[in-house]
Amino acid sequence: MRTRPAPGALVFGADYNPEQWPAETVEEDVALMREAGVNRVSLGIFAWSALEPYPGVYDDAWFGRVLDRLADADIGVNLATPTASPPPWLVRAHPEMQLEDAHGRRVPAGGRLSWCPSSDVFSAQAERIVTHVAETFGDHPAVRLWHVSNELGNENAQCFCQACARRFRSWLARRYGDVGTLNEAWGTAFWGHGLSSFDDVQSPRASRNPPDPALALDYRRFCSDALLGHYRHEVEILRRVTPAVPVTTNFMVAQAQDAVDYATWRDHVDLVANDHYTVAADSRRHVELALSADRTRGLARGEPWLLMEHSTSAVNWQARNRTKEPGEMLRDSLTHVARGADGAMFFQWRASLAGSEQFHSAMLPHAGTGTRVWREVVELGDVLRRLAPVQGTRVERAQVVLLWDVPSQWALEAARPPSVDVRYADVPAAAYTALFDRQVAVDVVPAADAAERAALDDRRVIVVPTTYLAHSGLAGRLEDAARRGAHVVVTALSGVVDDTARVIPGGYPGAFRGLLGAWSEEFLPLQEHETVDLDDGSVVRVWTEHVHVADGTEVVAAYASGPLSGLPAITRRALDEGTVTYVSCVLEQAALARLLQDVVARAGVLPVAAADAGIDLVRRSGQGRSFLFCLSHLEHAGKVDVHGRDLVSGRLLSGVTEIQAGGVLVVDEVPSSHQQLDGQLDGEDA
Ligand code: GLA
Ligand code: ZN
Repeated sequence: MRTRPAPGALVFGADYNPEQWPAETVEEDVALMREAGVNRVSLGIFAWSALEPYPGVYDDAWFGRVLDRLADADIGVNLATPTASPPPWLVRAHPEMQLEDAHGRRVPAGGRLSWCPSSDVFSAQAERIVTHVAETFGDHPAVRLWHVSNELGNENAQCFCQACARRFRSWLARRYGDVGTLNEAWGTAFWGHGLSSFDDVQSPRASRNPPDPALALDYRRFCSDALLGHYRHEVEILRRVTPAVPVTTNFMVAQAQDAVDYATWRDHVDLVANDHYTVAADSRRHVELALSADRTRGLARGEPWLLMEHSTSAVNWQARNRTKEPGEMLRDSLTHVARGADGAMFFQWRASLAGSEQFHSAMLPHAGTGTRVWREVVELGDVLRRLAPVQGTRVERAQVVLLWDVPSQWALEAARPPSVDVRYADVPAAAYTALFDRQVAVDVVPAADAAERAALDDRRVIVVPTTYLAHSGLAGRLEDAARRGAHVVVTALSGVVDDTARVIPGGYPGAFRGLLGAWSEEFLPLQEHETVDLDDGSVVRVWTEHVHVADGTEVVAAYASGPLSGLPAITRRALDEGTVTYVSCVLEQAALARLLQDVVARAGVLPVAAADAGIDLVRRSGQGRSFLFCLSHLEHAGKVDVHGRDLVSGRLLSGVTEIQAGGVLVVDEVPSSHQQLDGQLDGEDA
């Protein structure tokens, strides 16, 4: 596949939007790109109105000249289809292609991704421009990869127009066959919502009450499928015109994102690509970044992927946008590369002077090259060049796996759960943070994968956090894994409903009762600042349950205050070789960290290397070589035990080595040196 600039190089570059600048700027851009070591740009993402300024009138010679210049300079191109933002003349001619919000209001012109994926007009227009771009430029020697549209689902995750409602009905008819089955699956007898035919189905527009959970959940699935359908339509054209050029689109894998379910998309891309932006208000934003990168690798099934966009410094769309600290951009970039990204790209090359992102950082700031950001960009290009041998290697398979489940997120949101403080992503993120802090490698995989044996095979620890929607076969797979010796941890609100958001009766969590050897008869959510103690000193917030244990299930901790005092809070069932732990409450971070550390120790899982706490450690390996990434998040110097050559500094390192505050090492390890390492440097239990 032609996804790389040259064998053995990491990708480095940005979105490039020359249409925002006078034509002669291209010369300066290309010269500066070469200075920074840029080898890839994403071109044309928002260029539709520049390529076709009047209906059917193409003006694209300039685009060809830009491609030529880039090719001359040996800069590869991710060629975008410009469908994220249709030209204003098209929106004016066909306002009906704009999406409608939950109140049935058509979204006005302006912005981007404001089109409806069920619009036939838009689809035909997109087909036309995609075909034109593919036929005109697809075989240009600069082109390495197709970049389909942009962040599909970002602004148009759900549309509630009549065209979507019609397609939703057909989607339901395909899924359920007949309306009786649909009534049964959705439980429409409640509130008299029984449907006489598929034609009665309405999309879940804003009403006096939230929509039925099963309807809302299926609508999320439908909208994700509708956008995927649009993506696949574009891909069909691209594959027909340029069969040799691989295709991708930029995902948005982040804790707060749930626009579409990428687990159902990833098999339609040739290379998984992700966009990620850190959250200014999050003091531990590097952990959320690492989680996003690990999730992205999970979606890529462990294969290398591409960081398509992040920022050199501040973004412009958060409430208070943070300028990155010196060194932060390098750490951020290497956090992605450590976790399997075969390159790091940015939004965008040159900071815009106008438009709604004029104060977003870029590789080339408004102030030009005499700036800290520019110097750090050049430095990053240099570091990535030295890391070339890492390209194509894989992050070592982790002994710990954490399930992530977008359908559970949707189902939980759709459910009106008993507490507003129950937010899906909080629990897996908290578990991930605890493991990250112990320098334990984690693979994060879609829960749907875990129904297949391969995802769980040979794992020593399996964390199942708030996997509210029970995937069929999951309980059995977890049980098999535990019998083989895995230690499984299931947290509250997992396995509560089936695929159609219907409660599995007989005691919560219906899907996992047998697996856990425990069940709850009632949920007892807590009030906003209320806490409950456990008898092991743990503190609990948000959620508690009235738990019963079966014979042979151990009570690890009991509630020690509140109405459940004396009853089981954390339980553990021993299976042949492994265990299954149930956490029926939301533990405060310190308590969750203790619990997971105990499980990890029981499973014999060691940190990636011996290092001071606060240093992120990841190993990539392949073809007989291994590379240990050590990224310091400390405000003082730290220590790490490494053996090999640091590709960043060129220094040969052997044994306990100092890493400066916020510093990075990428150690090309002496073969098998890492196998002797265990435990923390200070001799503490790891
Ligand atoms: C996303 C988009 C870009 C830009 C950035 C700003 O990644 O794809 O076009 O809007 O966000 O952070
Ligand atoms: Zn629509």
